[in-house]
Amino acid sequence: GEFPREDRESFIKELDEIEEKDVVLVFFGTQTGTAEEFATTFSQEITEKLHIQSLLFDIEEYDMSELLELPLYSKDKGKNVIVSFFMSTYGEGEPTDNAVDFWEWIQNCVENDVNEDKPLKDLSYVLFGLGNKTYEFYNLIGRELNKILKNWGGASIIGEFGEGDDNEDTEGDFQEWKEKMYPCILNYFQSSSSETIENDEPTEFTSSFNIKYIDDINSQKDVFIGELSRDGPRRWGCKDNSIFELNNNNKQEYDVKHPFYAKVSNCKQLFQDCYDSYRINNDIKDTKLWDQDVLEATDICKVEDNKINIKRECLHFDIDISNSNITYNPGDHVAIYPRNNESIVNNLINLLGVTEKADTLITLEKNPKSKSHNTPNISMPCTIRTALTYYLDINAVLKIRQFEIISGYTENSQEKEYYNNIIENFKNTSTNMEKYHKTLSQILKECPETKIPIEVVLGDLLPKITPRYYSISSSPNANPNTLSVTAILVRYPLFTTSSPDLKLNKMVYSEGLCTGYLNSIYKNSQKENAMDQMINELNYDINTLHPPKLMIPISIRESTFKLPRDTTLPIIMIGPGTGIAPFRGFIQERLWQAKQGKNVGKTILFYGCRNRNQDYLYRQELEDIKKELDERKSQNDNNIKSFDLEIINAFSRETDKKVYVQHRLAEHGEIIWELIREKRAHIYICGDASNMARDVQACIENIAKTVGGMGENQANILIKDLKLKGRFHEDVW
Ligand code: 2AM
Repeated sequence: GEFPREDRESFIKELDEIEEKDVVLVFFGTQTGTAEEFATTFSQEITEKLHIQSLLFDIEEYDMSELLELPLYSKDKGKNVIVSFFMSTYGEGEPTDNAVDFWEWIQNCVENDVNEDKPLKDLSYVLFGLGNKTYEFYNLIGRELNKILKNWGGASIIGEFGEGDDNEDTEGDFQEWKEKMYPCILNYFQSSSSETIENDEPTEFTSSFNIKYIDDINSQKDVFIGELSRDGPRRWGCKDNSIFELNNNNKQEYDVKHPFYAKVSNCKQLFQDCYDSYRINNDIKDTKLWDQDVLEATDICKVEDNKINIKRECLHFDIDISNSNITYNPGDHVAIYPRNNESIVNNLINLLGVTEKADTLITLEKNPKSKSHNTPNISMPCTIRTALTYYLDINAVLKIRQFEIISGYTENSQEKEYYNNIIENFKNTSTNMEKYHKTLSQILKECPETKIPIEVVLGDLLPKITPRYYSISSSPNANPNTLSVTAILVRYPLFTTSSPDLKLNKMVYSEGLCTGYLNSIYKNSQKENAMDQMINELNYDINTLHPPKLMIPISIRESTFKLPRDTTLPIIMIGPGTGIAPFRGFIQERLWQAKQGKNVGKTILFYGCRNRNQDYLYRQELEDIKKELDERKSQNDNNIKSFDLEIINAFSRETDKKVYVQHRLAEHGEIIWELIREKRAHIYICGDASNMARDVQACIENIAKTVGGMGENQANILIKDLKLKGRFHEDVW
C-alpha cells in the first residue's frame, strides 16, 4: 500500500495538533465542486451545531495510506475519530480527478490484501456518494468504497450510507441525509466518550477568518493573480510566440490545477437565426428570475405577440495547443476555467461596500474565535478583485447554509423574516427549492440593510470556481496543434425587479458562467484589433497583476469514449444537438485513418436538430466530406481506402410531427441489428442524459426484440453485455 506520491500531507499530524479528543475528519473527492461544497457544509455544521471538532481535507492532498495507521493512533492517544467521505462518481463509474490516486491505492490494498485481516476494524466512518441516476454506474465509487471499507477493512459505518442523485435533487438528498446523520454522530461520541457533550443551542456563526490588508505590495515576495494552484504563484511570460509559465517552464505538464493558457486561433458562430420562444406569464416563472447579472438585451431578446424570443447561439472554438506538449484522443474532454465578467464583479464590489479596498492585497487568517479548520477557497495574498474574479463563483445560486449565515448580518426585522422564510421553505419542501434561485448580488440588492463582512464573503460564503468540461470536437491527427470546442450558450430570460408584475419594462437575459465567459472571448475575437490584442498579450508584461485575458486556460481529461482500436469495426454514432461534438472528432479521425491507407469500417452518424437551416451543426463540413468521399469512390481512387460514411438526420421542427434520432434509428433497425450482431459494431451515444440517451437505449432494445426476436430480458442483457464488452459507450450530461 505504498501511496503514489510522497509530497502528500499528513492528516494524522494535523489531527495530532488538535487538543480535542473527539474529532470528525472529512475527506472529499470532487469534480465540479458539489462534493466539496457538501463536505464543507458538513464539516462546518459539525463544529457549529454539534460542537465537535472537525477537519476538512481534499483527498488529493493527503497521504491516504494513513487510514491504516489511524485506528492504532487513535487508541494510543485516547482519541475518538470518525472518518467521513464525500465521494462523487464521474462519467462511466470513474473516480473524480482528485480521487484517482486514493482509488488506485485502496483497490490495490484490496487486491494484494496487503495488510492482515480487517485492517480497519476499529475505524468508524460516514459516507455520502454523489452520482446521477441517468448513468449506468450510478454512484459506483461511493457504493464500492462502502463495500471495501466494510468487507475488506472491517470498518463500521455510522448511520446510513447517503446517496445524492443529480438527476433529481442532490441538494435535497444531502439535506435529508445530514439531518439524520447528526444525531448518529452525537450518539457515537456520547457512548464512546468519557466527556459529556453539550448540545444545547447551536453557537452563532463566527467568521472562520479575519482579514488582513497589506498596503505595501513590495513587502510581499509572492502575490496570487488568478493562479489555480496553491503550489505558489507563477508568472506568465512570452517566449517564441508561446505563453509559458515562468516558474515552470521546463516541466510543462498541464493538469487540472495547472492549466495551459491557450490562444484561440479561430472562432465562429454555428447557428443561423435560431430562437427559443417563451410565452410570457406561462413559461417565465419566478424560477427564471435568478438575475445573475442584468445584461440589457438588444438583438438577443425579441418580443413578439406576447412571446419572448431569446437567441440560441452555438460557438465553435479552435484552440491552439502548439508548444504545450498537450496530447489528446478524439472523445476526450477538455476542462475550461471560466472567470467572472468584469461588470458583474464591479457590481458586487459596490454592493459589498469595498470599492476602495478592492485592489489592496489581503490575506485571510484563522479567526481564533472560530473552531472551523477550513482552508479558504482563494489563493493568497491576492486582491479582493482577484478573489472575486478568478477564485469564487459569485453567481452561484445560494443554498440553505449560505442563507443561514447571511441572516445573521442584518438588523432589519423584515429582512430577517425574509431569510427565515426562505430557510424554512428549503427545509420543508425540497421540490420547491428552485424558487430560490438567488445569487449574492441579487440578495444584496433586495436587502440593502444586510451588511456581510468581506472576510465572510471570501472565506465562508462563496464556493470556488470549478472548471467546466466539454467533449473535444476535433481529431488531433487531422488537426495537429488544434483542439476544438463546441459550446451552446446557456441563456435564461429574466426581468429586472422593476417589473415585478411581469410587465416588460426592460427585457433582459442571463448567461451561464462558463458559456458567458466563452462568449466574451468570442466577442473579443470579432473586434477589428483582436489580433493586435492577442499579440500584445503574447508580449505579456510579467508584472501586471492579472493573468492573460484573451487566452483560455485549459487542461485535458482522458475519457473512455474512444474509437475501437480495430479500425475495421463499424461504428454507430447517435448525437443530437451538441452531442455531435465528439463525433466530429471521430469522423475526422476515421477519414484520416482511411487516408493513411487503413481499412475503415462502416461509419454511421444519427444527427438530430430542429431545422436544417438553423441549427444543423457542421452541416457544410459534413456535406463536404461526403462529397469528397463520393467523388473518390466514383473515380476509383486507390489512395484512400474504403471509408463508408452515412449521415442520417432527424429534423424535429421541420414538419408537424417531431422526428427524433431514435425514430430514424428504428427505421434502420435491420441494418443496425446486423452491424451489432454480425459485425461487432460499437455504439456511441452523446448528448442529453435525461431523455434522449434513455429513449435511444430503449429504441435499441426494441430493435433487438422486433428485428432480433429477443425477449424483454434477453434484450436487456444484450445492452448490459455490450457495455461490459466496451462496445456501448455513453458521453451524456
Ligand atoms: P425538439 O427541441 O424539437 O423537441 C437537439 O436539441 C435535438 O434533439 C432537437 O431537435 C430536439 O428536438 C431533439 N430532442 C429533444 N428531446 C429529445 C429526445 N427525448 N430524444 C431525442 N431527441 C430529442
